[in-house]
Amino acid sequence: MNVRPCSMILRHAFTVWTSHDAVRDVMNRRKLLERIVQGFAAVGAGFVIYPFFKAGIPGNGATAGLEVELSDLRPGQAKLVHWLGRKVIVRRQSDAMLDYLERDANKLKDPKSKDSSQPDFARNTFRSRRPGVFVAFNNCTHLGCEVDVVNDTGVGFKCPCHQSDYDYSGRVMKGAAAPLNLEVPSYAYVSDNRLKLGMEEA
Ligand code: FES
Repeated sequence: MNVRPCSMILRHAFTVWTSHDAVRDVMNRRKLLERIVQGFAAVGAGFVIYPFFKAGIPGNGATAGLEVELSDLRPGQAKLVHWLGRKVIVRRQSDAMLDYLERDANKLKDPKSKDSSQPDFARNTFRSRRPGVFVAFNNCTHLGCEVDVVNDTGVGFKCPCHQSDYDYSGRVMKGAAAPLNLEVPSYAYVSDNRLKLGMEEA
């Protein structure tokens, strides 16, 4: 037997075997890389989507609405509730407060809430569905500071940051740094003493 051709055959076989191995190695690495990238993409998507679920965007029915009990509020009293990552003021207004709302419109920047943000049902003097209960996000419309609930001769809310004053229905006073009235969210009554934030009236 000729030794030389035999060694050539063996060398060729070894080359083919090792090159297959190398190709397999590259493919395995590529698959691994693809899986790592897919993993990162899934985690990234989770980070993007999670806050929306947490906030209860419309369609996520379990958390989109929040019921608020009113029977424990005496006239003038307010409560703060957390909804969609923000605080909402719910205040029962006294008769004296309601009287104030119907006078001194000339002291207000946007008395008819033409430029301010509220559902259509709240585009009225009381900025509410029913006179006697006022609901608004508690962020000042200047730079978003949280307003304090007060009862100070016509002033119902004060911003501690730059002293903007709002009346009992969240309408901002002339001369304030805040440009607009407090933002009113959508809500509806589910009973006489219970409302639901985020709900449209049927
Ligand atoms: S943030 Fe309220 S007045 Fe500036």
